[in-house]
Amino acid sequence: MAGISSRREAETLITSGRVSINGLVTTTLGSKADPSVDIISVDDKPITVRKERIYILLNKPAGYVTTLKDPDGRPIVTDLIKDITERLFPVGRLDFNTDGLLLLTNDGEWANRLAHPSHQVPKEYHVKVRGEVTPETIAKLSNGVKLDDGWTAPAKVEIVRTIGKNSWISIVIHEGRYRQVRRMCETVGLLVARLIRTRYGDLQLGEIKPGTYRHLTQEEIRSLIEGKPDKQQKIKTQEKDLHKKKNRGK
Ligand code: URA
Repeated sequence: MAGISSRREAETLITSGRVSINGLVTTTLGSKADPSVDIISVDDKPITVRKERIYILLNKPAGYVTTLKDPDGRPIVTDLIKDITERLFPVGRLDFNTDGLLLLTNDGEWANRLAHPSHQVPKEYHVKVRGEVTPETIAKLSNGVKLDDGWTAPAKVEIVRTIGKNSWISIVIHEGRYRQVRRMCETVGLLVARLIRTRYGDLQLGEIKPGTYRHLTQEEIRSLIEGKPDKQQKIKTQEKDLHKKKNRGK
């Protein structure tokens, strides 16, 4: 990957003592090193690995964990990405039993920017619930409910449809606390039968079949962390107007 040798030639470079990891020569084939953290040198010259950056949107089926290892041996989301050899990791998490939109990437900086608390994008969930969904229940969920880690911020909550004793509701939240939607529903007495993430920022789950994925476009990759130029401009103008008004009052 560094354009120095073929895989076979690399083995010879290693066994002949020309390769070092963090300054220590290694002659053992199969030694592990991570080019993103370790300094790998050939003949004392550090190599650079050109890494293709990958961003995908997966429709996660229920029954998969979003951690990279599971002590209980349950299936892992990356098991579904068979034709990409780069090591991808999920941006944030979805529960084992949750379906829907999950982003995966190998770009740590992009993932960190997305996950940073100052950059919370709206996330929409469709929840199939058992129990009566009254206007009071919707109001409670919308205004915020008290969880054991504090009140939830206001959310946009709507009934999508009701079939017999089940209803589908849509919940849009900006936070991303552990099992937040399930805990919000439990707190107002709703039993969650199914939970699907249908939107992340401007990205919709769309028609992607469960267990399959698509690559994001350059525009999607950029706008997720920067926001749409027109939206950003609007916010800046509103902030300026507010600032002017406040100063006028002084
Ligand atoms: N909220 C939950 O309760 N679970 C998820 O997987 C995502 C959001």
